[in-house]
Amino acid sequence: MENLKRKIDELKQKAQGLKAEQIIQLAYEEFGRRVNFASSLGEEDQVITDMIAKAAPAIEVFTLDTERLFPETYDLIEKIKRRYPLNFKIYYPDSKAVAEMVNDKGLNLFYESVDNRKLCCGIRKVEPLNRALRDVDAWITGLRRAQSLTRMNVEALEWDEEHQKIKINPLVNWTLDEVHKYIRENHVPVNSLHAKGFVSIGCASCTRAVRPGEDIRAGRWWWETPESKECGLHVHPPKLNTKVI
Ligand code: ADX
Ligand code: SF4
Repeated sequence: MENLKRKIDELKQKAQGLKAEQIIQLAYEEFGRRVNFASSLGEEDQVITDMIAKAAPAIEVFTLDTERLFPETYDLIEKIKRRYPLNFKIYYPDSKAVAEMVNDKGLNLFYESVDNRKLCCGIRKVEPLNRALRDVDAWITGLRRAQSLTRMNVEALEWDEEHQKIKINPLVNWTLDEVHKYIRENHVPVNSLHAKGFVSIGCASCTRAVRPGEDIRAGRWWWETPESKECGLHVHPPKLNTKVI
């Protein structure tokens, strides 16, 4: 593990000045089958999927199906499978844990408290993510700094203490406009809900459309305060005096 942790500095050197596609290629050269990509099927992730298909198609692309996703999101999965010859995998929550939670606290427990919401995200996303990451040394994500208060410290290459892995965020400095430009120019398939005012999309029960000018994560867990809006896949306590770019 220490070796892996030390590798970050060497990788940061190699990644200096590289574009997102090149960072993905570098990840494959360094880790081969021991790197995978966590796709939420959001716009950023669709950009990365397109890049993986072009630059390193052997990288496994996986998504965590919480079993509460929008029908439009399931349609997108089928489109991705038709469009890209990828190693695409879907992970599911443990059915026994879901049944226990739902029978004990109700189907829509998440509206009642942050603790309940974190319990549900824990069972439907965090535990399956741990399984997806079991056999890799590094994972790629679509995190961008400008996405939220809780993400302003994210770096392109970082040590993920929680999972004891290297985390690679190739779009860390991209703006939402840059994401949209790439999608347009490369005809990347995206969730049809984006055209209906949805920006960041998660589970149907916990996502709503946002109005023009509203924060891009305003539609996620809208009943909670911005500081608690993370599902536990990514832990990034905001540092004071850090500039958001
Ligand atoms: S969340 O924490 O609010 O749910 P968000 O939707 O912004 O996360 O996604 C951030 C990154 O986390 C994505 O780019 C992706 O790498 C990973 N991620 C989030 N949800 C999923 C999912 N359902 N399956 C796989 N990866 C996911
Ligand atoms: Fe459960 Fe909502 Fe989290 Fe989805 S986003 S796992 S439904 S609390």
